[in-house]
Amino acid sequence: MADLANIRVEWDVDLAIVTVDRQEKLNALNAEVVREIGEVFTSLRDDDTVRGVILTGAGQKAFVAGADIGELATMNSVTGVRVSRDGQDVFRAIERFPKPVLAAVGGYALGGGCELALACHMRIASDKARFGLPEVGLGIIPGYGGTIRLARLIGLGRAIELTLTGDMIDASRAYALGLVSSVVAPDALMDEAKVLLRKVTKNGPLAIRMALESIYRGLDTATAEALDFESSLFGLLASTDDMREGMEAFLEKRKPDFKGQ
Ligand code: COA
Repeated sequence: MADLANIRVEWDVDLAIVTVDRQEKLNALNAEVVREIGEVFTSLRDDDTVRGVILTGAGQKAFVAGADIGELATMNSVTGVRVSRDGQDVFRAIERFPKPVLAAVGGYALGGGCELALACHMRIASDKARFGLPEVGLGIIPGYGGTIRLARLIGLGRAIELTLTGDMIDASRAYALGLVSSVVAPDALMDEAKVLLRKVTKNGPLAIRMALESIYRGLDTATAEALDFESSLFGLLASTDDMREGMEAFLEKRKPDFKGQ
């Protein structure tokens, strides 16, 4: 991985812990941070030793406090499209990442930070987390997929209310809305993130990858086509060593040893 100014990557055996670290600006996403997040995920995607990724923010205050408003303030209608597209491309790569990505949100997840968490496959929060899409208060809209992903996750009416009010909500409200799957004490956040992700990564890696592909394809296609796709992936998995290993292990009453083959 090339030298990164704003991202730290650490390892917990086969989990990569990716930390956005620009604490003096509450980890706000300028163009460089967005580009570096993209580079990190490209590199982790191609690394067979990585089974899952935890994405988090440095410091006690913020996951990511949004796109960098200083930078946004200089955009015009041409560069604005580019800013949005660049962010969308990176966030889409996270959503399409072939291994599970879990957002561990310990503080402000606002604007682009909330959208970043939405692009991850799963989200957990500490009780210090705060979520919101304050863009309309700045005269813009969420431009990194927030107008699409939030409604899919928590439903149209609630997403519209959050987007149009720009309200900031606390972790318990985020839990009630289904924006995060659990809320834990700040000290427990990273441990809980690892526990949850390991519950996923102990399963067959190809099965995890194809489950994600099928779920996301299903969101974008008509039911009949989505079901065809699911059947194709189901059939494909039937030809893998992982399937044989998973079923043999069950029948032999032992833990499976998946190789991702
Ligand atoms: N873009 C650029 N800088 C940001 C930022 C953002 N999205 N969010 C925070 N910062 C900067 C602040 O400007 C400040 O920098 P400074 O010390 O050079 O003045 C620093 O981070 C610390 O933030 P500060 O506002 O002093 O912290 P706070 O605890 O008083 O408030 C927030 C925290 C998150 C409520 C507040 O920073 C905020 O509202 N940020 C913007 C959130 C937002 O609108 N995001 C969506 C952008 S599209």
